[in-house]
Amino acid sequence: MVEANIIQGDCIKELKKLKSKSIRLAVTSPPYNLKKDYLLYIDDVHIDEWKKLISATFKELKRVLTPDGSFFLNVSPIPDKKTKEIIPLDSIAWGIGKKNGFFLRNKIIWHFNNMQNPTKRLAGRWEAVLWFVKDINNYVFNLKDVKIPVITQNDKRFDASSGRNPTDVWFFNRVNNMTKKKLGITEHPCIYPVDMIERIIKMSSNKGDWVLDPFVGSGTTLLAAKKLGRNSIGIDLDKKYCEMTRNRLKKESNLKDFM
Ligand SMILES: C[S@@+](CC[C@H](N)C(=O)[O-])C[C@H]1O[C@@H](n2cnc3c(N)ncnc32)[C@H](O)[C@@H]1O
Repeated sequence: MVEANIIQGDCIKELKKLKSKSIRLAVTSPPYNLKKDYLLYIDDVHIDEWKKLISATFKELKRVLTPDGSFFLNVSPIPDKKTKEIIPLDSIAWGIGKKNGFFLRNKIIWHFNNMQNPTKRLAGRWEAVLWFVKDINNYVFNLKDVKIPVITQNDKRFDASSGRNPTDVWFFNRVNNMTKKKLGITEHPCIYPVDMIERIIKMSSNKGDWVLDPFVGSGTTLLAAKKLGRNSIGIDLDKKYCEMTRNRLKKESNLKDFM
């Protein structure tokens, strides 16, 4: 039986209460500052405030992660609210991670279909998932658990039975409104796909490990962790989202292929 702990509160305060070197893997998507309609959090802060929040998160994660631990941070390029110039949040986050002593192992491009179609620039169809490690020479990487099917069975370069290595470009469908409605989670504006988080958890943690999401939202990370036999901790400012996470864990963790 694995544990899933849901904590309501500010993650910077709550992270300070966690034991040092106790978490093997942190996975999260923080607020993007895109004026998203969260219930409590105001997603419209000055970029300097955003940087402070991300920096404080890195600092606490550096302490709570095990020496071989990883941190996966999902962020997107966003248009500036006034000029509409594109701000590469992933590049900004990389600099902050580096300053806090982390090493970037991969910048994964999460590609998807179905988003806005702007008429003055190309349509954005990716977000970044930055994979940071504490120690560039020592980290958990279960490659065999995340192999993908070979393209050509007769290709002599690959052992068809064990599959190919995944690349740093991933395709996962976004969680659309129909799925949200079916699962009763329409009140959260941006939910990442559970199958993408399952890949990360398989790759960078082992059964029985502790997985943490400091901005847990609707609880996707905790759900993926539970399905894969990992213990988990999720933090969110909002009581309603914590409740949503609790309900999802009850309702969805026994269902297979629901998204
Ligand atoms: C992008 S959403 C996360 C969505 C999540 N990945 C999912 O699949 O549902 C970011 C979340 O961070 C929460 N949040 C914002 N500031 C926070 C803070 N300082 N501490 C904890 N949670 C915070 C918001 O309430 C929101 O639910």
